[in-house]
Amino acid sequence: MTRINKTGPYNKVFSSDNAEGASAEVLQAMVNAGSGPESPYGVDTYSQQVEQQLSAIFECPVSVFLVPTGTAANALGLSVLTPPWGAVLCHPHSHINNDECGAPEFFTNGAKLICIDGDSSKIGAQNLANVASKKVGDVHSSQAAVVSISQSTETGSLYSVDEIQAIGDICHDNGLRLHMDGARFANALVAMDCSAADMTWKAGVDVLSFGATKNGVLGAEAIVLFDPSLAQELAFRRKRAGHLMSKMRLMSAQMNAYLKHDLWLSNARHANQMCARLVRGLQAIVGIEIECQCQSNILFCKIPRFAIDGLLAQGFHFYSDRWDKNVVRLVTNFSTQADDVDHFVAAAKALLVAQVND
Ligand SMILES: Cc1ncc(COP(=O)(O)O)c(C=O)c1O
Repeated sequence: MTRINKTGPYNKVFSSDNAEGASAEVLQAMVNAGSGPESPYGVDTYSQQVEQQLSAIFECPVSVFLVPTGTAANALGLSVLTPPWGAVLCHPHSHINNDECGAPEFFTNGAKLICIDGDSSKIGAQNLANVASKKVGDVHSSQAAVVSISQSTETGSLYSVDEIQAIGDICHDNGLRLHMDGARFANALVAMDCSAADMTWKAGVDVLSFGATKNGVLGAEAIVLFDPSLAQELAFRRKRAGHLMSKMRLMSAQMNAYLKHDLWLSNARHANQMCARLVRGLQAIVGIEIECQCQSNILFCKIPRFAIDGLLAQGFHFYSDRWDKNVVRLVTNFSTQADDVDHFVAAAKALLVAQVND
């Protein structure tokens, strides 16, 4: 990872939605909550309000456990869904499989991650069905226990409600639990014509990692349990993992502000619109190929090597070389401006046109 150079009139950072700070409302809420006495360890009014807010959003009573990172949300959420001899079925592109340094395996006391392929970074229902019932009861094999899907996915695509339901049905038929990594849940929801309930528990999701840090919060993610019977175990597991914050009110106040007045939805809508603008701009440039279905705020595209180098030399930040040759990932966020996008597109165009004219 390289250091971000902050000089210049435009924000040149398209590397990650984690590269931005937080919305002003969230920062102010932390300041407001930061003085005076309040009960510690989550027994405070801010935390109580988070549970009420999320219960209203999901149209059912939910149990909520805040943690500071998405990795903790995923790993701890999974830990109440599988025994150590269980298997977590996930897509090869999933964050839990590639980017969590073994945290899911660690917090589940050794459950095995088994990859199930499918197009556009989504688990294929038929592929899942083929594996879900294999080796049941075989003492020599890890036992399929939970399916984990990402919404939106790591490449910016989305599961439709029907696709989630199909996976939920397979889970139900085979006695498996369903976890959703919603690090970008808001970006997915605003891109779909459905409710938060439709996209989760109504389609069979048991546990959701409800992300917020990538979309305007400084550092708070919610493990949302749709099954209240999991709450007691998760309470102990969170504490044992060192993630029960004594001054929980500071995380809860962030989440209060994030959910209030639909800030989470407007931030995500903006990020998605900026990504759509990026797609429109880049797909009009000869020599650039849009790679994946871009349905939220992440775009993968192929850019000739000399243009990647030229853009990096101009101070733009993005990841390349982690995937196929010349494939670049561009991510927009709640504070990306239209001018930032246009500046990137113009720079890419100038490099490619100059090459054609050479
Ligand atoms: C899909 C997905 N899940 C989970 C995470 C968890 O992130 P972190 O532990 O860095 O907060 C990320 C972060 O990049 C992500 O992209």
